[in-house]
Amino acid sequence: MTITMDLHPIGEWTHAFGPASLSNLGPGFDTLGLCVSALGDVVRVRPVEQPGVHVTAITGDGGTLSKATAQNTAATAALYVLRQADVRHGLELTIGKGIRPGSGIGSSAASAVAGAWAANLALGSPFAKAGLVEAVLRGEAVASGSLHGDNVLPALFGGLVLVSATEPTRYRCVQLPRALHLAVILPQVQVLTKEAREMLPDQVSLWDAVHNTSELAFMLDAFHAGDWETIGHAMMQDRLVEPVRARLVPCYPEVKAAALDAGALGCALTGSGPAMYALTDSAAAAEVVLGAMLAASRHAGTPADGLATTVDAEGARRVAPDWQRVRLVDATV
Ligand code: HSE
Repeated sequence: MTITMDLHPIGEWTHAFGPASLSNLGPGFDTLGLCVSALGDVVRVRPVEQPGVHVTAITGDGGTLSKATAQNTAATAALYVLRQADVRHGLELTIGKGIRPGSGIGSSAASAVAGAWAANLALGSPFAKAGLVEAVLRGEAVASGSLHGDNVLPALFGGLVLVSATEPTRYRCVQLPRALHLAVILPQVQVLTKEAREMLPDQVSLWDAVHNTSELAFMLDAFHAGDWETIGHAMMQDRLVEPVRARLVPCYPEVKAAALDAGALGCALTGSGPAMYALTDSAAAAEVVLGAMLAASRHAGTPADGLATTVDAEGARRVAPDWQRVRLVDATV
């Protein structure tokens, strides 16, 4: 393959945004992911003489993330891009977290995607997004301990992405025929994806697996058709993963009941939790459902913040240096 590069001058900063994403979506464990608007991480990158990737600052992580390249999702993904492009100089990275680590909406994936896209931009965009799939999967693996693509691929490409759970470089972007509205809450407990994966059983019942498979098939057809009612039903049918993980989220039953009472078409955990999302048929309904979910989490003793949002169809992108993130609605309002 011939790679065309137009390296940015040493010292010149480039900013890239990696969006938040919802994964699993009920019965689609490690298989379905959806890119969501408004939330995400920004990685700033500039070429430096010293080879390798050097993270010099991280903000918004509460001091929890490592700057060591091999332990940082953004840096690992950026290093992969650098090696893929076979350039001799290095990159300096700073990471601005807009998503709390361990919140369940693809925090590590957003950083990995922003890191890979920022590195690609700084090298003069030698790769199309499809050329960064391996890089973002490897970045994500730093945090989750496994190569799964249901957060990184929607964050990279935007929209809904179907990905093979066993060969994550096989994926398909699925077009949605009409707008989809969501309420997403982030309960203030931390769930580490690695731990939430380790708690899952090695074996499950054949009939539970068959049930999940059939619900996932209905779901995919409904996504093509824009049939959000069927999605709302199917997203609550997971028998394999969510029943095991729901106990990690103390307000889970109250929030789910409140969302459905307020008119949501469905409500479920996203990713490994603790984030929960609800599907609605309008932006106004998403605001009402969000308010009900936040109030329920507060009453259940696990405050949350959240937002009413929709699907981000674009995925990773360049942003201006003064780009501003949205503010979450918190449980006190
Ligand atoms: N599919 C992954 C899981 C997503 O549920 O473990 C983690 O964010």
